[in-house]
Amino acid sequence: MNRIKVHLERKFSASYDIHIGRNILDRLALILSKNSWGSRYFMVTDSHVSRLHGDRVARVLGEMGLDVGKIEFPAGEASKNIHTCVSLAEELVERGADRTSALIALGGGVVGDMTGLVASIFMRGIPYVQVPTTLLAQVDSGIGGKTGVDIPSAKNMVGTFCQPKAVFIDLYFLETLPPREFVNGLAEIVKYGIIEDPDLLEDLLSGIEALRERDMKFLEMIVSRSCRIKKGIVEIDETERGLRRILNFGHTVGHAVEAESSFAISHGEAVAMGMAAATILSERLKYLSSEDRDHILSVIRHMGLPDRIPAVLDTEGILSRLKRDKKKEGESIHFVLLKKPGMPFVNGGVPLELVRETIEAMKA
Ligand SMILES: NC(=O)c1ccc[n+]([C@@H]2O[C@H](COP(=O)([O-])OP(=O)(O)OC[C@H]3O[C@@H](n4cnc5c(N)ncnc54)[C@H](O)[C@@H]3O)[C@@H](O)[C@H]2O)c1
Repeated sequence: MNRIKVHLERKFSASYDIHIGRNILDRLALILSKNSWGSRYFMVTDSHVSRLHGDRVARVLGEMGLDVGKIEFPAGEASKNIHTCVSLAEELVERGADRTSALIALGGGVVGDMTGLVASIFMRGIPYVQVPTTLLAQVDSGIGGKTGVDIPSAKNMVGTFCQPKAVFIDLYFLETLPPREFVNGLAEIVKYGIIEDPDLLEDLLSGIEALRERDMKFLEMIVSRSCRIKKGIVEIDETERGLRRILNFGHTVGHAVEAESSFAISHGEAVAMGMAAATILSERLKYLSSEDRDHILSVIRHMGLPDRIPAVLDTEGILSRLKRDKKKEGESIHFVLLKKPGMPFVNGGVPLELVRETIEAMKA
């Protein structure tokens, strides 16, 4: 079992631990009961996770004498909106939640982002813990306290920064994760390798078999390294004013592609396409060598992720979404580009025409 501390200095965000291991629900129960973050807990989960893991988690926590209720909503990104948040808040009120209650986010990024948002605004803020169950949530969304929901015109447009009291990553949950969701998480791990730890890319390549078999020991190593990278960035820049923006590598085009496909393309696939676009743009702008570009694109492909954009997607549609994206400041679009693997930087003015050409070329 691993324990990684997220050190935060701001008065409103205390430091917290990320616990990583296999079958660590007992530890979750122990730590919840020791810390008394809530007199009662409400476990927020989605319909899939509830069916697969909800009762078992509730039982383990109950056996420790914790008072735990379960609230669920339909699985999927379509649920990640303010209406679901209001329904969750209504249900909390109906079931007698008060300021001494705390939430447990049991699920993927949708559950985590939305539970965090509800926790940050319900009765002006109650504590919550993250129990991420997808690979993506374990290495990314579960850490760092970015909460939020989508609005019809844009993803994650409404949200807060609200750090959890702790994060419990039980690799056991990954055993039931569908292959497509697993590959989604891999995209974020590849991202960490590209922006921060090029050795991680090599380890992913040499561990392809272990990944295919979901070897728990290998996953523990990869997940722990990813969490360390994310927490290191969050510690320096908790509210994404500078360094944390590098975590958006691949997300500028990624979010636009995801939305343009009406979410038929998954988040991880879209981020992979976005990472490929940012890599190609970096080379076209002469920041990155063509060897590094080819190597990065090859890692993306080896992980079973796409480095091309489906021809059916409308380039102008992608571009107009890109311009509306929240990373736009003034009239310039911010891109995270690369000088080398491990050396990202924010470029405030990538010409739109070059982005257009790159997207077109990626469709060829
Ligand atoms: N807050 C952040 O910093 C941050 C970072 C990255 C992504 N996100 C957000 O995260 C969301 C994507 O997260 P996600 O990919 O986890 O999606 P998700 O939460 O929708 O989960 C994907 C699917 O897997 C199912 N699932 C979850 N755990 C499972 C398990 N153990 N076994 C079987 N099925 C399981 C879910 O029910 C769902 O159907 C997006 O909304 C994205 O915007 C947030």
